[in-house]
Amino acid sequence: MKRNVVGTLIIIVFVALGILISSLSPEQNPESDALDIQVQQLLNKMTVEEKVGQMTQVTIDLILKDYKTNEIDEQKLRHAILDKKVGSILNVKEHAYTLDTWHKIIRRIQELAVSQTPNKIPILYGIDAIHGNNYVKGSTLFPHNIGMAATRDLSLVEKTAKVTAAETRATGIRWNFDPVLGLGRQPLWSRFEETFGEDVYLTSELGVAAIKAYQGTGPDQYDNVAACMKHFIGYSLPLSGKDRTPAHIPDNVIREYLLPPFERAVAADVATVMINSGEVNGVPVHASKYFLTTLLRDELGFKGVAVSDWEDVIRLHSRHHVADSPKEAVRLAIEAGLDMSMVPLDFSFYDLLLELVKEGTISEKRIDESVARILKLKYAVNLFEDPFPEEEAIKKFQLPEYKEVALEAAKASMTLLKNEGGTLPLPASAKVLLAGPAANNVTSLHGSWSYTWQGRDDTHYPGSTLTIKEAFENKVGKANVICHSVRSYEDERNFDTALLRSDAKNADYIVLCLGEDAYAESPGVIDDLTLDPRQQALAQAAVATGKPVILVLIEGRPRVVSAVTDEMKGILLAYRPASQGANAIVATLLGEHNPSGVLPFSYPKSTGDVLAYDHKHPERIREDIPNTYGDGGYKPHWPFGYGLSYTSFKFSKLKVDKTTFSVDESITLTATATNTGSKEGNVVVELYARDLYASVTPNFKRLKRFKKVNLQPGESKNMAFTLTAADLSFINAVKERVTEPGQFEFMIGEETVSVELLATGS
Ligand code: BGC
Repeated sequence: MKRNVVGTLIIIVFVALGILISSLSPEQNPESDALDIQVQQLLNKMTVEEKVGQMTQVTIDLILKDYKTNEIDEQKLRHAILDKKVGSILNVKEHAYTLDTWHKIIRRIQELAVSQTPNKIPILYGIDAIHGNNYVKGSTLFPHNIGMAATRDLSLVEKTAKVTAAETRATGIRWNFDPVLGLGRQPLWSRFEETFGEDVYLTSELGVAAIKAYQGTGPDQYDNVAACMKHFIGYSLPLSGKDRTPAHIPDNVIREYLLPPFERAVAADVATVMINSGEVNGVPVHASKYFLTTLLRDELGFKGVAVSDWEDVIRLHSRHHVADSPKEAVRLAIEAGLDMSMVPLDFSFYDLLLELVKEGTISEKRIDESVARILKLKYAVNLFEDPFPEEEAIKKFQLPEYKEVALEAAKASMTLLKNEGGTLPLPASAKVLLAGPAANNVTSLHGSWSYTWQGRDDTHYPGSTLTIKEAFENKVGKANVICHSVRSYEDERNFDTALLRSDAKNADYIVLCLGEDAYAESPGVIDDLTLDPRQQALAQAAVATGKPVILVLIEGRPRVVSAVTDEMKGILLAYRPASQGANAIVATLLGEHNPSGVLPFSYPKSTGDVLAYDHKHPERIREDIPNTYGDGGYKPHWPFGYGLSYTSFKFSKLKVDKTTFSVDESITLTATATNTGSKEGNVVVELYARDLYASVTPNFKRLKRFKKVNLQPGESKNMAFTLTAADLSFINAVKERVTEPGQFEFMIGEETVSVELLATGS
């Protein structure tokens, strides 16, 4: 192992910075100081009951009349707010409400809270506006994060998040349980579509962009909400791939891959965090003082509100068996560092925490810390000033331009994986047979969190949402489209191979729309990544007709399709493109849009061969006899960063301004991108770095910067990326973030340059 001089230096700089920041006297932050005093004054007036109530979050089910109505039950509401003093409510019952219904509900809740509670503390309402405010009728839904990550476009992530925040605030809600910052490195995981994919840097950049857009710059805006980074930490990497099952992740791996997006989000002042429902290394995260206090607060410096996930305090007893009673579960979670429990189906948390404080097991000082954070958040989103739906915010609901944003985002996410012999784009005059379960279905285009939790009930979607069939017919006329697919994904008629064969006789091309219907969380658990046999049979029947077949994949995670890909002439991956998805798919197939999406994950070829692009060198299998490499290691169907265009691009002249540099210097890499084809197009430029030798086995390569560039045919553009030694850092064996001196390679496309980072003093 090398002497780690540079690493030590970097740590010293970080520590010095920390001391400097913590030494700023409160007088230098007059605003936050005034807020602290205000919160403290309020806390002084509150009873223990009120404090415990503020830490209690229940679902709307507990205040509505019954399963069929969206009306508030006055008695239940009074019980929740006046008797149990709850501080927060979440969710919807069953499905999205109209804007009007939301306003009635929010107004009534707030009226009661600010008129009849002793300290007039408004309620903080929270919602899952995951890819648009999916729980209000008529809202605009955008591609899920996995598609947004394919765009590699920060400004689009910002734009979609801004609309989401505006449409959420318009309903009267000021807290969004988004974004998911877990990495999508386990494709079986049923929440893969909610992630920004497998890369640490990409997830961090896009996550921060979303958080900043959600939160805006101040509470007096009318289009911002508090964001919630989730789920801290390790949720996305369950060992079995099944939702909410145990993860086993060494601490240095957590710090290298999983922590940085959360670290960046904290630095961007994210207001809240939601905790991982699962366990990591044998400890449920909700009971882990190490994760919730040592790492999250002491080390990352998170100052916001930590909310549990659904029923997870109760589950410390009922599911994880680390607490021998529900009361012990509450004690464990609070001592670990939780501020608010999403109880959410009863008031047990309130009752038990009250007991614990009254008997002295949990100190009032401890709950004061949490309540202060919750009150600060309520101030930050302006609830004390005006807790009701605001006129200015309502004006920002359903603006016509939101559809344009949705179309732009969906188009930018389209990822072309195969185009044999330039089969695509299709001629507009061609007669097309559209087949498959996703051809005439809107729910698969949207996925989870779409007007209902599971997203599967199309009766709640706006009537204007198009299926691929409808969008195709709009574009080329009904006479040019043959399609017998029906809306219900699982309907047998969607898998009818005989019908497909006879329909194909009258078509020039077959566009086969396959993949997954919507699902969310545990109902989306699968045992096999392979696309199901009925869909594969449909693909084989399509190929057997002899007509050129284009496969359009609508899916939230990469389903293995290798058995049918060789015969496909074209393959377009659409992910979950949402409300304008059908238009985006058709525009791409017909060449009105030139695709530029690139994969945010490695698309596996086989279910047993799942590896991320930033794997380690020894992932290559080495045979003892005859002592050669038996296998290339990383061999996905399509690698991370892959995506075709209808034009061609070339990267050249990759240069670096220094061949050696020291830790206090930066380096600038320059390169040229050229459109060598005949169509205008966008290209994603990705800069990768490779640390050749390091004290911990280095990654094969790591993404360091990305940029999307628009180029006319024949046009060239130069670009520059500046990096510092910190950009080349990693977590060493003793869990410190260090940059070790030595040789590094930088790559853009096929071009490579080398740079040496000097040891201090060289
Ligand atoms: C999910 C969270 C979500 C919460 C509230 C849970 O089941 O894991 O991501 O925010 O429900 O709906």
